Amino acid sequence: MKKLIIEGKHKLTGTIKIGGAKNSVVALIPAAMLTNGKSTIYNVPDISDVHLLIEIIKTLGAKVTFENEIITIDNSKGINKEIPENYATKLRASYYFMGVLLSKYKQSEISYPGGCSIGSRPIDLHVTGFEKLGAQVEINDNKYFIKAKQLIGNDIFLDFASVGATLNIMFSAVKAKGITHIYNAAKEPEIVNVASFLSTMGAKIYGAGTSEITIEGVDELGDGIVEVIPDRIEAGTYLIIGTLLGKNLIIDGIIKEHLGSVLTKLKEIGCDFKIEGTKVVINKVKKLKPVNVKTLVYPGFPTDLGQPMSTLLTQCEGESLFEETIYENRMRHIKHLNAMGAKIKLFDRSALINGQTKLRGRTVVATDLRAGAAMLVAGMIADGITTVTNIEHILRGYEKIVEKLSSVGANIKIIDTN
Ligand code: UD1
Repeated sequence: MKKLIIEGKHKLTGTIKIGGAKNSVVALIPAAMLTNGKSTIYNVPDISDVHLLIEIIKTLGAKVTFENEIITIDNSKGINKEIPENYATKLRASYYFMGVLLSKYKQSEISYPGGCSIGSRPIDLHVTGFEKLGAQVEINDNKYFIKAKQLIGNDIFLDFASVGATLNIMFSAVKAKGITHIYNAAKEPEIVNVASFLSTMGAKIYGAGTSEITIEGVDELGDGIVEVIPDRIEAGTYLIIGTLLGKNLIIDGIIKEHLGSVLTKLKEIGCDFKIEGTKVVINKVKKLKPVNVKTLVYPGFPTDLGQPMSTLLTQCEGESLFEETIYENRMRHIKHLNAMGAKIKLFDRSALINGQTKLRGRTVVATDLRAGAAMLVAGMIADGITTVTNIEHILRGYEKIVEKLSSVGANIKIIDTN
């Protein structure tokens, strides 16, 4: 069991470099298994989800190297196998093997995927998509058996613009016979990143990044190459921290268009930042204004930044409203914030936050990945020492978080209690 120990209130100066996007790379690694060729993925973050996915693709016969932020995958001896349950249930992105193996071998077998407990997280849209392309899906004891004689392109309308379902349908359709249209597709930048990768392999995908994606099936896919886009959620988390503690803090390696809704909200609360190309220079300001934040699908305010943002709202003077619209269960961190001194009233998926409140260090729990980020931000601005437990969640998604924050002046360390 690992814990984070944070001494609060240290000013942060220097540069934090943003790594590759977790939610891109966790789809790119499975996507590399679509080809029998070789793939190279640049700018790979060193997070535990990446290591787990590497273990999974090794069980599927891939030869993998991971050095200097570059993964190479040689899939010339790839085989189809059930994804071991102990891997599948450890991360959400294991569900991408459903679409990938179905596409390649016309059959996949895998347990219900794991990931953060932030809601019921059904995968019915993925299943409907597979079925629309001609697959049969059997669910037995939490295990999915998906197979097809042939996959045939179709028109698929998603009830919700789901990131996972859009990508899984894309994977299943790249080698299907004929043309697939995905309507109400997710528009997240990670979708564009994955589509670009598949295009380098020879896939024919049009409209990624819009709500209508067209995929023309091809017979074969070749070698692939891609650079993982910067992690907009990691960048957003450090922007939030910079708003509270920055002294000419530089967040380096962002794509500002990917952070539009976040930068707009930070501007509204009065945050002092300047964008210089791919860098943001950020300074703490004395007085922050309250604001309403509602999470939405991209390009709206990302649900993955809602929790850390709620910690920032405790430092705004007045009443802020934070509404989570994507998941049912993303408010478990609120009781820990209140225990640290915040004044937050919870109404189901909305939180009324009264600030500015002093936060006091104490022991709190990272109930999920982004709740962990919210607790980390709280600990960094609290009086005294904060201990965050269950930080395995945080390490799944934030690369070298202790090293990055320590290098700009934070007093933070991990202790292993095993
Ligand atoms: C991905 C991200 C996650 C992020 C989320 C929304 C990965 C590995 N995870 O998750 O960090 O929070 O996008 O930006 O990339 N839904 C259904 N049925 C389905 C699929 C989804 O009802 O078949 C619902 C979900 O319960 C949720 C919403 O749609 O309420 C969004 O889910 P989705 O976009 O699919 O999120 P994930 O791909 O799981």
